[in-house]
Amino acid sequence: MNRVDGKVALVTGGARGIGGATATLLAEAGAAVVVTDLLAADGQALVDEINRAGGAAVFMRHDVTNESEWKQVITATLQRHGGLDILVNNAGIWSRGTIEETAEAEFDRLCAVNLKGVFLGTKHAIGAMKNRPADGDSGSIVNLSSTAGLVGSATSAVYSMTKGGVRLFTKSTAIEVRARGYNIRCNSVHPGATESPMQDDILATSNMSPDEIEKFIANRNLLGRYGKPIDIANAIVFLASNDSAFMTGSEVVVDGGYTAR
Ligand SMILES: NC(=O)c1ccc[n+]([C@@H]2O[C@H](COP(=O)([O-])OP(=O)(O)OC[C@H]3O[C@@H](n4cnc5c(N)ncnc54)[C@H](O)[C@@H]3O)[C@@H](O)[C@H]2O)c1
Repeated sequence: MNRVDGKVALVTGGARGIGGATATLLAEAGAAVVVTDLLAADGQALVDEINRAGGAAVFMRHDVTNESEWKQVITATLQRHGGLDILVNNAGIWSRGTIEETAEAEFDRLCAVNLKGVFLGTKHAIGAMKNRPADGDSGSIVNLSSTAGLVGSATSAVYSMTKGGVRLFTKSTAIEVRARGYNIRCNSVHPGATESPMQDDILATSNMSPDEIEKFIANRNLLGRYGKPIDIANAIVFLASNDSAFMTGSEVVVDGGYTAR
């Protein structure tokens, strides 16, 4: 189940957190993995660990907001592995702020990483995936949205706006690639609050006491705990694999039931 043997996968923002768990699980499931991130030391340490465990991974430093760096990363991946089967558009940033407080530069920064980064990745991955045969395995693009892309947010409206954009861009991508006859699927994943450096930042800027944080976590969703990066990685690897062959344009919610009520 959920094997990706012989496939080539690229994970952005893959040095840590959800992206790190996804890169590790993809390698365990048989893929050759290209991990990209701004954090070169963390990214290199992660691929060293994957390779020590018998996987196949390389790290490339890469800013997802920069189109010429996308061209370099895709070209290097094709030269090294001869193709690209899976793209996980995972790199993302969050920031707290009311609409009134949010500066224009902060709005631009969030849009650049969370929206433009996903657009550029999808654009260049389609180029690398579109010539695959119609009767073979689909290329798979998996975009990280959020529960904040499904329901509104009290603390970060601009982040929510970007993640809502990722949700619909995913569906438009799924429609467009089929209309053009490309054998590519595209789906989004919507994590609820998940343990990661991003979540540490969310809690650190919350002004809650440790007791309040504990109660907040216990009441956050139906399962009474935070997600772990592996909970999200499991859904991503499913969407990357042929087990999800009949899924495209879908939104997979992994939130412990947060959006059920
Ligand atoms: N953790 C959560 O609770 C949660 C919930 C919903 C959605 N998400 C989404 O999941 C994804 C991963 O989140 P995470 O919690 O692992 O966050 P994280 O901050 O732990 O990891 C994100 C990674 O993206 C990298 N990155 C940031 N800007 C980049 C850029 N311009 N170019 C390349 N890499 C860049 C960071 O260096 C970091 O390694 C994000 O898209 C996030 O919005 C997270």
